[in-house]
Amino acid sequence: MEGEDSLTMLPTIEWKGDHIRMLDQRKLPLKKEYYVCKAPKDVMDAIKKMVIRGAPAIGIAAGMCMALCAVRSKARSGSALLMDLRKTADTLEKARPTAYNLKWAIKRMLNRAERMTSSSPEKIRESMIEEALSILKEDIDINRKMGYFGQELIPDGATVLTHCNAGALATGGYGTALGVIRAAVESGKKVRVMADETRPWLQGLRLTAFELMEDGIPVEVITDSAAGSFMRSGRIDIVITGADRIAANGDTANKIGTYQIAVLAKENRIPFFIAAPLSTIDTSIKSGEEIDIEFRDPDEIRRIGRKSIVGQEVNALNPAFDVTPSRYITGIITEKGIIGPPYISGIRRIFQNK
Ligand code: MRU
Repeated sequence: MEGEDSLTMLPTIEWKGDHIRMLDQRKLPLKKEYYVCKAPKDVMDAIKKMVIRGAPAIGIAAGMCMALCAVRSKARSGSALLMDLRKTADTLEKARPTAYNLKWAIKRMLNRAERMTSSSPEKIRESMIEEALSILKEDIDINRKMGYFGQELIPDGATVLTHCNAGALATGGYGTALGVIRAAVESGKKVRVMADETRPWLQGLRLTAFELMEDGIPVEVITDSAAGSFMRSGRIDIVITGADRIAANGDTANKIGTYQIAVLAKENRIPFFIAAPLSTIDTSIKSGEEIDIEFRDPDEIRRIGRKSIVGQEVNALNPAFDVTPSRYITGIITEKGIIGPPYISGIRRIFQNK
């Protein structure tokens, strides 16, 4: 752990040659502390413990974890190094099961290493670092593109409801859902945001509100249970959230609570959009039924921060994500444009033209 810094927006994750530095998101916004990962296991722990979170940021961390494995490996041949990478990949993949970007990044790193088995370990190490840094750089470019396409959907003067944190902190920078909001503001529109607090980790209250306030974008935090009532009273014009995994038919896993927001949006005739890079779309699964939903420690519900609110005798169920069937989704904003229903053909087409 390294010391605190001033209160300006800092990079979510940085490659430092022989270690990785992450902003510890468990401590934000009250403390800005870095979490240092010197070995692949440290990165896996950081992902599990929510030091770094948000599907694209988890993907970037996974890429860097593989690069760190290559740097730390004592392998003396390309094939031995590939074995070390595969071993790391097997455990890393289980760190958080729902976020597809984790699997996507691991696959991308392994594919590159597999094409180089006859090269020297040194060459493979260099390539692993290069690939991990490309994942980070591309992610920021992709978010800007999503912002470009998505901002048109936000009317001037609109109030946007968002859930969890799909901002700079959840990505390499700029954000997916918050990137679209940022782009609308940059284009000169007046936009207000309502951010669900997002129990139990409070990503909306702690991270989304913090990011938007830093940018001077008006934001109000509401409890998760207030969203429906604000929709009904006409206070919300559009909903935009991120995604952790999207199936080939458009069914979308995102932070727990997203499903009920989508249903309520439809009931109140409010457009509901998902903003996500193509790296979040898992075309190998037909529908949301096949998405593995992560269940986390019940203590995350029984406690607020470190303080226990109830005793261990109270049972709690803590799914981290839910699945929104695609019939509730007005459109999916990607770096290649906006996909509308029917999603099976829309998603297929966008991958064909990739
Ligand atoms: O549990 P988290 O904080 O990793 O959940 C994050 C979300 O649900 C985000 O909406 C999603 O990963 C998209 S982030 C651009």
